[in-house]
Amino acid sequence: MGCKLTKLAASEFNQEAIDRPPPPSDPRSPLTAKQQYCMLASWKGIFRQIEKTGIILFVKLFEENQDLLNLFEKFSELKTKEEQVMSTELAEHATKVMHTLDEGIKGLGDVDAFFAYIRHVGATHHQVPGFKPENFWKVEKPFLEAAKTTLGDRYTPNIENIYKLTIKFILENLVKGYEDAKVENDSSQT
Ligand code: HEM
Repeated sequence: MGCKLTKLAASEFNQEAIDRPPPPSDPRSPLTAKQQYCMLASWKGIFRQIEKTGIILFVKLFEENQDLLNLFEKFSELKTKEEQVMSTELAEHATKVMHTLDEGIKGLGDVDAFFAYIRHVGATHHQVPGFKPENFWKVEKPFLEAAKTTLGDRYTPNIENIYKLTIKFILENLVKGYEDAKVENDSSQT
């Protein structure tokens, strides 16, 4: 099933170009070329409200996982939702994380570069005392809820499916980056 944006874009080109199948995507990517196109088109709507979406994501993350607040030196005192929404520190951090996701999503077309970038970000979490790689998966649901809040009607079942595939791919690779760096750290100590 195509997304509305594909159809809209297609109407601007000649019929021959539309009928041609899209180029095959990298087999390591979970998205077809068409899904990747839809993801990028939809993501523009998130990007325009990147800070707001990031704050929603983090407030939901902490709502469902109070214990994670303790891992963030700068936010551990932000006990209520109201304090979190108003915090400049939280907004700044949320925006940085969203820009990381943005870089990953915009780089989906080059899977090698995507792996290098996202796995490196995963590995940097070794610097966070008490961090466990399973923590990455806790972002999945809040990310999807935040995308739904920002996109409203534009968050169709097709788009939801594409966001699910995309965030899963990102989180899997954050974990892999973290795990691989752990192996490297361990073997360099022996
Ligand atoms: C989508 C998943 C995630 C991405 C893309 C991501 C990305 C990042 C980035 C880019 C930084 C560096 C920020 C800076 O330079 O100030 C960072 C720091 C950090 N991340 Fe993550 N992160 C993710 C998930 C998580 C989760 C689930 C936790 C939960 C415990 C977490 C805990 C932290 C902490 C505690 C820091 C250090 C913050 C600081 O020192 O101010 N991250 N993360």
